[in-house]
Amino acid sequence: MNKLLCCALVFLDISIKWTMQETLPPKYLHYDPETSRQLMCDKCPPGTYLKQHCTARRETLCTPCPDHYYTDTWHTSEECLYCSSVCKELQHVKQECNRTHNRVCECEEGRYLDLEFCVKHRSCPPGFGVAQAGTPERNTVCKRCPDGFFSDEMSSKAPCRKHTNCSALGLLLTQKGNATHDNVCSGNSESTQKCGIDVTLCEEAFFRFAVPTKFTPNWLSVLVDNLPGSKVNAESVERIKRRHSSQEQTFQLLKLWKHQNKDQDMVKKIIQDIDLCENSVQRHIGHANLTLDQLRSLMESLPGKKVGAEAIEKARRACKSSEQLPKLLSLWRTKNGDQDSLKGLMHALKHLKTYHFPKSVTQSLRKTIRFLHSFTMYRLYQKLFLEMIGNQVQSVKISCL
Ligand SMILES: *[C@@H]1O[C@H](CO)[C@@H](O)[C@H](O)[C@H]1NC(C)=O
Ligand SMILES: *[C@@H]1O[C@H](CO)[C@@H](O)[C@H](O)[C@H]1NC(C)=O
Ligand SMILES: *[C@@H]1O[C@H](CO)[C@@H](O)[C@H](O)[C@H]1NC(C)=O
Ligand SMILES: *[C@@H]1O[C@H](CO)[C@@H](O)[C@H](O)[C@H]1NC(C)=O
Repeated sequence: MNKLLCCALVFLDISIKWTMQETLPPKYLHYDPETSRQLMCDKCPPGTYLKQHCTARRETLCTPCPDHYYTDTWHTSEECLYCSSVCKELQHVKQECNRTHNRVCECEEGRYLDLEFCVKHRSCPPGFGVAQAGTPERNTVCKRCPDGFFSDEMSSKAPCRKHTNCSALGLLLTQKGNATHDNVCSGNSESTQKCGIDVTLCEEAFFRFAVPTKFTPNWLSVLVDNLPGSKVNAESVERIKRRHSSQEQTFQLLKLWKHQNKDQDMVKKIIQDIDLCENSVQRHIGHANLTLDQLRSLMESLPGKKVGAEAIEKARRACKSSEQLPKLLSLWRTKNGDQDSLKGLMHALKHLKTYHFPKSVTQSLRKTIRFLHSFTMYRLYQKLFLEMIGNQVQSVKISCL
């Protein structure tokens, strides 16, 4: 026996004796041929194999397992077990083999052992979040998102997330969330100011249809004098005249009047209808998440003077994705002497074919145009404004129409 192994044995012997004081090693029955007696021998501890049974004079002799072999229980075997040589497909070694433990394999990240195979962890569908992440031994546990929580993705990692608390952010809740959608907040006055859509598509449609397209020279004053409710003051009118072109002046005036009289029943109704209209427009084009290139192509295909690249990039930075297109259209309109945005868009749609534009977007744009051109709205508002402004103006107006 070489010296090293001898030392190891002595060492092992000491350590076994020491542990024996705490827990006695289990025994086994052995027939000793020398004395013809049944002896109670100690079993061998993990990490060793049985070299010699005990005799009347000597304890059991156990020897450490050789390399690549192990035993992991108290036993009476004369051989150690061979460590599993390789891990399965899609597994890696978690614990190398040593004298007391077999090699431990486990599934790669993102998989767990199902019978013989490493199977991918389950992904929880939208509406469900991860309650317990998968481990190499266990699949993901999903749970339905409870009230106040949502998950909008297919994921094996993401738990349900809390609905955004709009009021805590100083915003209005515009659409209540559910298990698959977050709350939608709006009224972020800061961001709308930053994006700054002067006149929205709906306001343009309502106001354009509401007033004559040809103007008598003092049309704006006639409008100011005859709109019901509290009057827009002369100073504001002057400012509007200074800063805006003719059609835009009407839009701005009506906006200001609407704002000043928002508690009047009639104005409330107008505001309500405009809000409904905005919601519809948002439904049609709000989700169109256009890339910078697509926005450029779209603006390029509008007729007349072009909105510059810088303005496009600025709008992309300042506006939410749902407001970028409306913002750019309003820029185009003012740049082109109050051209009708809808006519511009119709022109653009004819030319967009060359730009491989997403079909879903062009369809949404067509729907938006159709919606904003709807006959009922046009008639309704023209009538309303005519009534508001009264008979005196009606004669002027009819001659203009
Ligand atoms: C053998 O490996 C096991 C884990 O697989 C570990 O707990 C134990 O301490 C190791 N023993 C030695 C002697 O390294
Ligand atoms: C939202 O935040 C407000 C103010 O911080 C708080 O009072 C309210 O309870 C919160 N709502 C939810 C649903 O967490
Ligand atoms: C959750 O809300 C979204 C949008 O708000 C809606 O499209 C969806 O149908 C709703 N889901 C359920 C289960 O109510
Ligand atoms: C729009 O698309 C960009 C990239 O394609 C993405 O990063 C962004 O989150 C999207 N925004 C919305 C509101 O979908």
